[in-house]
Amino acid sequence: MSKADLITFDDKQQTFHLHNDQISYVLGIEDGGVLAHLYYGQRINHYHGQLKNPRLDRGFSGNLPGSDDRTYSLDTILREYSSAGDGDYREPAMIVRQSDGSRSAMFSYDKHTIINGKPKLNGLPAAYTQTKDEAQTLVIELVDKVSQLKLALSYTIYRNRPVVTRSVQVINGGTETVHLEKIASMAIDLPAGDKQVISLPGAHVNERHVDRQDISFGTKVFQSRRGTTSHHMNNFIALVDCQTTEQEGSAIGLSLVYSGNHKEEVSKDPFGTYRISMGINDDQFDWLLVPNDSFQAPEVIMTYSNKGLNGMSQALADLLQNRVARGKHQKALRPIVVNNWEATFMDFDEARLQPLVDDAKDLGLEMFVLDDGWFGHRDNDDSSLGDWHVYQQKFPKGLQHFSDYIHQQGLKFGIWFEPEMISIDSDLYRQHPEYMLRVPNREPSPARSQFVLDMGRKEVRENIHQQMKQVLDNCPIDYIKWDMNRNLSDIYSNDLPADQQGEVMHRYVLGFYELLEELTTEYPDILWEGCSGGGGRFDTGMLYYMPQSWTSDNTDAVARMQIQYGTSLAYPISSMTSHVSVSPNQQTGRFTSLKTRGAVAMSGVFGYELDLTQMTEDEKQAVKEQIAFYKEIRPIIQYGKFSRLINPEETNFAAWMFVSENQQDVVVFSFKILSEAQPAYHVLKLTGLMPNKEYQNIETGQIIGGDELMTTGFYEEVSFEDFASKIYRFRIVEE
Ligand code: GLA
Repeated sequence: MSKADLITFDDKQQTFHLHNDQISYVLGIEDGGVLAHLYYGQRINHYHGQLKNPRLDRGFSGNLPGSDDRTYSLDTILREYSSAGDGDYREPAMIVRQSDGSRSAMFSYDKHTIINGKPKLNGLPAAYTQTKDEAQTLVIELVDKVSQLKLALSYTIYRNRPVVTRSVQVINGGTETVHLEKIASMAIDLPAGDKQVISLPGAHVNERHVDRQDISFGTKVFQSRRGTTSHHMNNFIALVDCQTTEQEGSAIGLSLVYSGNHKEEVSKDPFGTYRISMGINDDQFDWLLVPNDSFQAPEVIMTYSNKGLNGMSQALADLLQNRVARGKHQKALRPIVVNNWEATFMDFDEARLQPLVDDAKDLGLEMFVLDDGWFGHRDNDDSSLGDWHVYQQKFPKGLQHFSDYIHQQGLKFGIWFEPEMISIDSDLYRQHPEYMLRVPNREPSPARSQFVLDMGRKEVRENIHQQMKQVLDNCPIDYIKWDMNRNLSDIYSNDLPADQQGEVMHRYVLGFYELLEELTTEYPDILWEGCSGGGGRFDTGMLYYMPQSWTSDNTDAVARMQIQYGTSLAYPISSMTSHVSVSPNQQTGRFTSLKTRGAVAMSGVFGYELDLTQMTEDEKQAVKEQIAFYKEIRPIIQYGKFSRLINPEETNFAAWMFVSENQQDVVVFSFKILSEAQPAYHVLKLTGLMPNKEYQNIETGQIIGGDELMTTGFYEEVSFEDFASKIYRFRIVEE
């Protein structure tokens, strides 16, 4: 029996209503075939036409070509998608350069189809469905009648999630070649109100701060022009009401499923109307589209919640874990690793690493990760990227010998690659200097002494693929950390003519995705972890190929509180790897206790990144206990429901909590950052519990009602130390 429709078309009103038990999204066809936005938010039963865009003659807002209705202007109505040159002076979602050189286009409704399920996006990562029943997709085709350029706008609504996904395909149905100069994946206009926008800016070793600001007149742009998602601005934003908090109020999360340049435009026009768009950055973008060809823009995931930012993050995290991440490790418990990077950097050989492996085994760790420096003749970051064969001097008996040793200890073996890069001092460069992104006759710009391969070229991808295959087929490897330690510059491909150089950065991403698809399919048992100098490519696109990512090169516990807090706004905890490193910390110089470093790292996918052999016996004992404890709480942390409680950027405290999938177990992490003389007593309140159930504090035995934990809260013990931490565990009392 087929389930009720999720998308209905009202022929009389010419409106589409996408709905499930939680949300509604309503759009309509206005005069002239213009697609108008009507409503997005909490579910409504039926739409009765009350939001039809009001009409008013507003000076200097022109009217529809050929019409003398002065009250109808594309410049002032709420729209779904707009193009430059159609009389709408706000930020256009797309710009096309026609064959006559003009940038005019007027897209109007042509037809629509409603299909069960969700079609794949060719060559791009996207949310998926497992059965045709769990979602429906509306495809609305708009056409520019003069050029016969078509836009297929796709909207998918899931049955049991407050999620709509959107994407756009452009089809050149005409006879002339055109250039796409901008093509956002989605745009939406919202009525005037009191909205704010949250973005996640940062920098290397300082990623994803929660930045919240009013949306005032003009246009605010959040973007990356770096060829990748970037540390500097994540490709996620949230639109919230002024009153929205972590626990209450409405929030719309917009997440671009893409790993390259991106741009989010958020504007407020003179009449208070908001326009928001998101997609590939139009900076240095120019895509040539010949007749009969099409261009697919990446997907945007839209999540609506009326239960505050936590509700939004939980819905998004659930979708990302269950319908974006794929493969064997998608929902598997992730191994606790020790990584040798902050322990040895590149100064190691097999003999130096062996005692680390032995200690890892004794302490109960589950995987040893060999980081940068095992290949070519790499002793520092000046050489060898592109030469993916073992460094004989460091592993005289070969890599397999080391891998076998690790496996004999009962540990898994992981290894680091940086496949998209090339060093000038490499055999790859000596043989194929043309593989590098580089503008003819110009000196290329180095970063960390390295350069970027042109991943848009097939032969480049094949070369790297074959080299990696050689390693993977000759040595048992359980995990790969895929790194990328610089941004793109010198944007030019030897493979493309002058009028297609504006395609280089998107072709790079498409080529990169193709290689990831091939490798992850060929080696399905490997657990892949993304990385780009920490969290420089922490995005939803990567999660489609790799279920986890190194959150930041900053391993300082206090800095990580903020970084992980911000990251959790848009990504599931199961995707955030976090390691205990030495104190004083190598990035900040800060001293923190092993206990607090453990508590922060245990709030994600846990591991260690320090020289275990240098620890005292007491420290080793503490580490053993941390590992045993994490093994107990691991399913709750990695796949429970996560809620943020206190933002460390706003107060002297940080707190967050997890409730197990079966709702029986609760783990709460609480931190006080700086110690104070005569402090106020601190009350901690929880969230997301069952109000009518009682919970027992596992440590003290005290029983408290779920309602009490959420409303009265409880006093925390006063501690007189900087960077103090406390982990509480509660369990539901069976009746
Ligand atoms: C990046 C990563 C680190 C480490 C180094 C190795 O910075 O984020 O974890 O792998 O590269 O060069």
